[in-house]
Amino acid sequence: MRIGILTGGGDCPGLNATIRGIVTQGIKEGHEIIGFFDGWLGILENRWESLTEEKVEDIHREGGTILHTSRTNPFKEERGLERIKDTLKKAEVDVLVAIGGDDTLGVAEKLYEEGFKTIGVPKTIDNDLSSTDYTFGFDTAINIAVEALDRLHTTAKSHHRVLVVEIMGRHAGWMTLEAGIGGGAHIILIPEVPFDIEEVCQALIERKNVGRSYSIVAVAEGAKAVKGSKFLSREVVKEEKTDAFGNILLGGIARVLEKEIAKRTGLESRSVTLGHLQRGGRPSAFDRFLATRFGIKAIELVKERKFGQMAALRGTEIISVPLKEAVGKTKSVPAELYQETGGLFWGK
Ligand code: F6P
Repeated sequence: MRIGILTGGGDCPGLNATIRGIVTQGIKEGHEIIGFFDGWLGILENRWESLTEEKVEDIHREGGTILHTSRTNPFKEERGLERIKDTLKKAEVDVLVAIGGDDTLGVAEKLYEEGFKTIGVPKTIDNDLSSTDYTFGFDTAINIAVEALDRLHTTAKSHHRVLVVEIMGRHAGWMTLEAGIGGGAHIILIPEVPFDIEEVCQALIERKNVGRSYSIVAVAEGAKAVKGSKFLSREVVKEEKTDAFGNILLGGIARVLEKEIAKRTGLESRSVTLGHLQRGGRPSAFDRFLATRFGIKAIELVKERKFGQMAALRGTEIISVPLKEAVGKTKSVPAELYQETGGLFWGK
């Protein structure tokens, strides 16, 4: 078969390992593989190249994606569906493997409903995709955040400061919770559990009163204050505009908290936004392994003619689930897990 692949949405470490897995296993099984550039945009514009084993030989250790990516939503483009049909016909593609998060895989699911043979591979640093225990990219990203938190501890301690650290993850707190625990944050604020600023400031003062002269606050970019809070009525956004999938660009909560904490407590505060540092660079061993296994699974799904499916991790096993089940719902941090892992306050 002739298999087309693309990477869509925000990039993440591990994408190249998946591409290598698909190409190596695909060629071994007698398929031809072509890669579309820039996510769905490359399909709309019929831009692609043939992928050979030589091209992908050493790419597993590199971050980003050799195919590049975009947040293009083909269904929002003029004649989007028709243009996809044209390209897939011209490029003689039998099966399309989309590697992405909820938005990219949502398009793959719609195309499947339209009669195309599509398969999904889940990636996102946010780890918020339903039906899979983990997405690749997440492990690398939280390790970067843990390293940042470790470093911020020493400077915060030296200066007796409060350091507020903003961590990505849009509407899911997985990154902030896991990196916050791993990196020893004293207060962890996630979107799923709105926070009370009074309570946060009280905890910081209590720490100070028992001789803990510094504190680290890990806050998710999408964290919100409790309903009715005069201090913050909604998520903090970088810009009011949304992308083609309707996602708003979040950012700035750490700076807002830094100022509010200083004002309410008198404690010297600083903020850091980790931002895209969390998405860049080389993938961890865990992500390389998971991404490669997902790639190999995609080829197995082609062989078994299981279209409209997504590779997924369940426990230690790679399984497949219908794309329909996986997309359109965020996998959130359960409130119980947040409480069980210490919730708001550590080291009072
Ligand atoms: O979805 C991955 C992610 O990194 C989110 O955590 C973040 O909110 C968003 O992408 C940032 O988007 P962009 O790369 O378009 O700035």
